[in-house]
Amino acid sequence: MAETAPPVLTGEAIDAPLVDDSGGEAGAVGIEREEVLVLDFGGQYSQLIARRLRECGVFAELLPHDVDLERIRARDPRALVLSGGPASVYEPGAPELRIELLELGKPVLGICYGMQAMVRGLGGSVEGAEKGEFGRTELSLVDGGGNLMAGLPDTQQAWMSHRDRVSEPPAGFRALASTPGSPVAACEDPERGLYGIQFHPEVVHTPHGQAILERFLREIAGCEEQWSAASVIDEQIERIRAQVGEGGVICGLSGGVDSATAAALVHRAVGEQLTCVLVDHGLLRKGEAEQVVDTFREGLGIKLIHVDARERFLARLAGVEDPERKRKIIGEEFIRVFEEEAARLPDVSHLVQGTLYSDVIESGGGTGAATIKSHHNVGGLPEDLEFELVEPLRMLFKDEVRAVASELGLSDRMVWRQPFPGPGLAIRIVGGEVNIERLDILRDADAILQEEVRAAGLYRELWQSFCVLPAVRSVGVQGDGRTYAYPIVIRAVTSDDAMTADWARLPYDLLERASSRIINEVSGVNRVALDISSKPPATIEWE
Ligand code: XMP
Repeated sequence: MAETAPPVLTGEAIDAPLVDDSGGEAGAVGIEREEVLVLDFGGQYSQLIARRLRECGVFAELLPHDVDLERIRARDPRALVLSGGPASVYEPGAPELRIELLELGKPVLGICYGMQAMVRGLGGSVEGAEKGEFGRTELSLVDGGGNLMAGLPDTQQAWMSHRDRVSEPPAGFRALASTPGSPVAACEDPERGLYGIQFHPEVVHTPHGQAILERFLREIAGCEEQWSAASVIDEQIERIRAQVGEGGVICGLSGGVDSATAAALVHRAVGEQLTCVLVDHGLLRKGEAEQVVDTFREGLGIKLIHVDARERFLARLAGVEDPERKRKIIGEEFIRVFEEEAARLPDVSHLVQGTLYSDVIESGGGTGAATIKSHHNVGGLPEDLEFELVEPLRMLFKDEVRAVASELGLSDRMVWRQPFPGPGLAIRIVGGEVNIERLDILRDADAILQEEVRAAGLYRELWQSFCVLPAVRSVGVQGDGRTYAYPIVIRAVTSDDAMTADWARLPYDLLERASSRIINEVSGVNRVALDISSKPPATIEWE
């Protein structure tokens, strides 16, 4: 085993080893820029490696480890990075490193499994160790750390996650560092431009990791440009213009930052050719539809159709309790309304989607509708909708989208909006049907929580914060009388990617204010509870 899940969460834990293997890369085609390709050997941090490289100001993209060599040659990257992975290099069926990759004349950095595969491929020794190294480990440099780690402290911490180890580097390589369990924790052959590190420079528990990546990119690979998310704006505008031509473009807005940013970018590119549609299904947060209308119609001058479909959705949700049926109904009805609106517009040829790079990776890559996550996307439209997709955010991570949004002039409130599920409040009313009475109670309670979280300055620190309404009643006492009313559950989590989450330790005084305001101001509620479960084993949403 070269890599297993570490016992403690680091900067980001991403368990989606799938990568874009479609030929439809997120970035590149026809665009001149310095870039680095990360080849994914199935490691849980592969996505994070790409992000960290981008944070150094160099565009990086994740590709499968067995990607066609011609594709790599055509991209002409500045360097290659080989990711970690869960296999043992000598195990049958372990992902193979093709030696040709090391002979392209590009600097290569192998990380964990990537290093072991390189070492083994070039004739060095990798052996199974009885005890692996997991977690924080003290790393000692040998001879000043060689080319790759020059200038770093002689001893430093590094995050390890491996069982196999390199015992003998290949001919021409020299060892750069060791740890108690790894005689060769880093090695290099600068002549051939080949570098390997056993530890994970991409996680926050390797304090000098970013410096190592930076050095690899700038000193070794010679990257000079400063890529930034905002720098994609001009490039995307040109792409969108070329793709769309004279056609009409339609974009569904959900109120979230992704669709808003995609729409604003397309509007920059083709102006009046874009029409946005906001389907108000009645499951939005308080004031959200109005805010979207304000931002788009008034603020940005974008044509926006605001469809009040609240009654239609409520009618279809009547009597439905099963969460998956709710999702399905909402999804279907959404498509219906959207199609009706699209049919009214003349000459629509293109549809904008706020697909992000993480969606591309998680859905196994590909271009077009197949890449849209089905489970988590109410705005996911059927393939027979005959529009060509415009996905200007396909190459960006969420935090990069926020940078673009900000650069495009979207308000801070929009830029920093917490994620909100497509089926909205419907999946936060649990154990009973979604009806207007419950929706209004939940919406009012949620608005109070949002206000208090913002007033405490905690909104941006939380991945999500919201209220849940279990459809049960409990006894309370108010004034002289007993009440029989709903509880409201406060759910607030911290997370980097929603795959894992921890319950947020909200300050008591904030909880107290939110609780007493909810009970006093929202009639129909007599009790407030706090959800203190992390994910896993709980999920963020209650349904
Ligand atoms: P869970 O509840 O699975 O949520 O921990 C992970 C993230 O996904 C969001 N979520 C949804 N988003 N449609 C969506 O668009 C859905 O049906 C849905 N269910 C969960 C959730 O808010 C969190 O950000």
